[in-house]
Amino acid sequence: MDNKTDKPAETHSFQAEVAQLLHLMVHSVYSESDIFLRELISNGSDACDKLRYEAIAKPELMTGDAPLRIRVTPDAAAGTLTIADTGIGMDHQELIDNLGTIARSGTRAFMTRLSEAKDGNGLIGQFGVGFYSAFMVADRIEVTSRQAGAGEAWVWRSTGGAGFEVAPASQERAEGLPRGTAVVLHLKADAKRYLEPREIERVVRSYSDHIQFPIELVEDKGEPRQINAASAIWQRSKSGLQPEDYTNAYRSVAGAFDEPAMTLHYKAEGRQSYAVLLFVPSSRPFDLFDQERKGRTKLYVRRIYISDDADLLPAYLRFVRGVIDSEDLPLNLSREMLQKSPQVAQIRKAVTGRILGELEALATKDAAAYAKVWEAFGAVLKEGIYEDPERRDKLLALARFTTTKEGGLRSLKEYAADLRPNQTTIYYLVGESTDRLKSSPYLEAARARGVEVLLLADPVDAFWTSMSPGFEGKPLKSLSQGDVDFGLVPLLETPPSEPETKPTGIDDAIIVAVVKATLGERVSDVRVSQRLTDSAACLVAGGSGPDRELERLLSRQSRGVGAKPILEINTRHAMVKAISDAKLGGRDGDVIDLSELLFDIAQILEGEVPTDPAAFAKRMSRLVTRGLGA
Ligand SMILES: Nc1ncnc2c1ncn2[C@@H]1O[C@H](COP(=O)(O)OP(=O)(O)O)[C@@H](O)[C@H]1O
Ligand SMILES: [Mg+2]
Repeated sequence: MDNKTDKPAETHSFQAEVAQLLHLMVHSVYSESDIFLRELISNGSDACDKLRYEAIAKPELMTGDAPLRIRVTPDAAAGTLTIADTGIGMDHQELIDNLGTIARSGTRAFMTRLSEAKDGNGLIGQFGVGFYSAFMVADRIEVTSRQAGAGEAWVWRSTGGAGFEVAPASQERAEGLPRGTAVVLHLKADAKRYLEPREIERVVRSYSDHIQFPIELVEDKGEPRQINAASAIWQRSKSGLQPEDYTNAYRSVAGAFDEPAMTLHYKAEGRQSYAVLLFVPSSRPFDLFDQERKGRTKLYVRRIYISDDADLLPAYLRFVRGVIDSEDLPLNLSREMLQKSPQVAQIRKAVTGRILGELEALATKDAAAYAKVWEAFGAVLKEGIYEDPERRDKLLALARFTTTKEGGLRSLKEYAADLRPNQTTIYYLVGESTDRLKSSPYLEAARARGVEVLLLADPVDAFWTSMSPGFEGKPLKSLSQGDVDFGLVPLLETPPSEPETKPTGIDDAIIVAVVKATLGERVSDVRVSQRLTDSAACLVAGGSGPDRELERLLSRQSRGVGAKPILEINTRHAMVKAISDAKLGGRDGDVIDLSELLFDIAQILEGEVPTDPAAFAKRMSRLVTRGLGA
């Protein structure tokens, strides 16, 4: 046994989440078990990438004559499959840290999603569980690793239980590994098919064909034979590539399992030369709404991987995955230099323009496909409306909205083409969900005039709308802010004759004054509403300052500017009429109760709780009891 020849081992426990994940791998049967090979090969390829990059500054790291490659060796007699690379390797501590914890937020997100989902199917591939996926096919794994340039090699061993061992590698093992990492999988009984060369070739072809380094298969202790194309797919010409080549490249580059919703592949020549292969995923990556808002586009320089942290695209395009390979950048750019590089800035600008152009083309060519992209990533693209003034108009044109018109998403262009007579403004309403918005009192007057209203329910909507953008000369205006005057936009039908007879016994101005006196400091003003037809009252924001929804959002985080709302009252409503009657009848207690109640109702319509729920309850029961004549 190997164990006998290795030196004494130290034992470590897996981080609790790893143990949980392993339990899942060991005990579940996944239709996607093939992806373990993709994951291990991609780790080998990453390790080769890292070494090639490090060796730019320290050529001596490329010790020996071993070229960068990944070798897959099945051993039918032993029942093992070995995946070995000549990459950067891991030292003692790295073995413990990297193969004992979950460092990747992707795997963490996978765990969360898994606990919500009925079964794990489709999830493992989508999240890329990485190294640990090997426990789907193996019941024992040994990882031997020698860091480039290091004298000693280490071996990591686990059966997928609660822990693992780390020990210095035996002399025999160490000699067999001048540099890099060898992963030995002791295959489970039901995974023995991965010992067959045909099966290995099939999996490598379908998932790892375009890996840049040679992937070699060693059959029956014979000569290694390369089984992948080993060319950077983004450098190949479009005409030689099939849709499935792109799908596979996308899955491997992005660690994803879905289909790309859009593919952009071109070479730029001119001031700078670079190749671009970018994908828009068809589903949201797990980290889309992380605080860091980090993109993952990979920077290569002349085929050498440099970084996936170079901010090659603006944050509002962080869902785009893929590679940009420059011919001109120096190889030894530090991270700081990358961030300041005018060349990178120029690439970012040009590629951003191309992506937006391509999205526009997709929207024209296949509206349904584009709508899916928008549903997945619109909330992120909208960040660009306030972050990228230069492209604001383009982004507004790309935006799609749920509106009060039924039948799918609408563009501002479509909105503008359907304006009502005399309508010069684009109206919108911001809130928490489109369903809630649809029953908002703010919509009443717009509805009566057949005016379409954008219903904005993404958290980002409160922010970009606060920039007061316009579209093709038409301003955007919030229905919950300032005066809303639909002016000369005609009503759809003449209003019922009832409101013609003035329902209140006293002047509107007096009612307004009475309510205002009751509410005092809580409102900045009380006025007669032009926007309400059915509801008794609503709260709106003043004409300047944040929209009502933004103010509510900010004040919930104690960041509000403390802008007091305006109470608008519907003088045709029975409740307001009741105030008038109470005033005329000298029933001051009722006047106060009813005025307070108008404010309570307006708060409830915003989805809030009345400021003093107990007082609200008392008022309600007083008024109801009186109303019932008790
Ligand atoms: N063959 C390898 N050579 C060097 N390091 C490796 C190798 N395999 C795994 N690692 C280390 O283990 C970490 C975890 O691997 P993995 O679970 O696949 O996640 P990921 O590759 O997404 O980081 C890697 O980030 C890397 O640091
Ligand atoms: Mg990996």
